[in-house]
Amino acid sequence: MAHIRLGDEAPNFTAQTSKGEINFHDWIGDHWAILFSHPADYTPVCTTELGTVANYSAEFAKRKVKPIALSVDGLESHKGWINDINETQDTEVDFPIIADEDRKVAELYDMIHPNADNKLTVRSVFIIDPSKKVKLTLTYPASTGRNFDELLRVIDSLQLTAYHKVATPANWNHGDDCVIVPAVKNEEIADLFPKGHKEVKPYLRLTPQPNI
Ligand code: BEZ
Repeated sequence: MAHIRLGDEAPNFTAQTSKGEINFHDWIGDHWAILFSHPADYTPVCTTELGTVANYSAEFAKRKVKPIALSVDGLESHKGWINDINETQDTEVDFPIIADEDRKVAELYDMIHPNADNKLTVRSVFIIDPSKKVKLTLTYPASTGRNFDELLRVIDSLQLTAYHKVATPANWNHGDDCVIVPAVKNEEIADLFPKGHKEVKPYLRLTPQPNI
């Protein structure tokens, strides 16, 4: 399969999940999506990751982002493990987990890296916008749990660019100044950024975060 690159259309699929069968694009609808794989059910790091996503449910909802997890385990395994996640992580898993026993989706999204593990998925992340374009890809090894605060930060940045024509500088956090994208002409700035701006260099123009 071809590598999935930023700007590509996210490959569509139908799959069994812990919340029933889905057609991926229909399931995304007019939302954003975060599709993320984990190596296996009933494993310690994965248990903390899925618990964290469940505990961040309001944060994802606030951003109109639907999370969906995947491993090559089956539905019964997912359902039993969800009980453990809920119990140990003090949460309620309310997002679907894809049961990809035949590896159809894992292969479509290149989530199995044979030189790391030839059976299990690595920790892949795909953030997909409402037009079904891939906006971020990320791969972590099995031994490192992902930082979901960072993923929320990236989603905020992607949405600022999509809706407000700003980018975010190094180590940006919610509330910090943003960078006016180069495509915006100087004469458009006053209308687009009524909070003002600072020209550090002609190519480095800062403005207060527009959406707060
Ligand atoms: C874990 O989730 O803890 C894990 C899964 C596969 C390999 C290593 C760790």
